[in-house]
Amino acid sequence: GLSVGRLGARSSSALLPYGFFMVGLYASSLFPVNGHFIQNPCPIFGCTRGNFMLDWHKGGGRAPGPGSFGVRFFMMLNWNELEAQCLSCQKCALADKRTNVVFGVGPRDAEVMFIGEGPGENEDLQGEPFVGRGGKLLDDMLELIDLDRHKNVYIANIVKCRPPQNRDPLNTEQDACIGYLRNQAALIRPKIIVCLGRIAAMRIIKPDFKITREHGQFFKKGNIYMMATLHPAALLRNPAQKPAAFDDFLKLRDKIDELQAD
Ligand code: URA
Repeated sequence: GLSVGRLGARSSSALLPYGFFMVGLYASSLFPVNGHFIQNPCPIFGCTRGNFMLDWHKGGGRAPGPGSFGVRFFMMLNWNELEAQCLSCQKCALADKRTNVVFGVGPRDAEVMFIGEGPGENEDLQGEPFVGRGGKLLDDMLELIDLDRHKNVYIANIVKCRPPQNRDPLNTEQDACIGYLRNQAALIRPKIIVCLGRIAAMRIIKPDFKITREHGQFFKKGNIYMMATLHPAALLRNPAQKPAAFDDFLKLRDKIDELQAD
């Protein structure tokens, strides 16, 4: 899939210390980037080139305005800049009601990254992802396959602020927030991404992802293996699904072992 010309050198982190830099470049949907057209960019990696990321924007959101569409280049931020910006974010209305921004947790060189949909009440109060009952279940399942949020997995969400009454995050809210996750993923460079639940899977793996049918399957995008498993909150509501989720975790363990053997 993706074709986005070559956007600059692959000099990795050399430019990062120069700080935040954004070039707003809005154009029509057919605007060619360095002579290439952008097709179906992956929300996480398809748009990252060297120190630059390409934000593919279509309609909605606070910027640049309803009905507009275009592309926007921006420079990747380093961890300090990224976290500082995220913690003071006002890009969508979820900012007005939050107690804490839930940025993410875990080692920043983890080979495995987990992605949920958005903070719930406990997460909003504590500023950390998956800290309620669902979080305890997640930690227990991670432990069964030797994973730990403080040792070897990074956990973040699609949206960093709690949606009211825990409703699904709106597309406009996801659009406003996804750049933070993309920058996190680009800094971490995980080998494997696991989506927790349907919302994350639809955003990260493919828009028509069917969680009941496709959980536990790996999809390779670029060099990254991606899979989705059932959301811990769904497992709490429906414990009969726990064995199926456990099976996904065993497949994850196998994939980690396979990639470590190479
Ligand atoms: N559900 C999520 O998707 N993310 C959290 O951080 C907590 C609950």
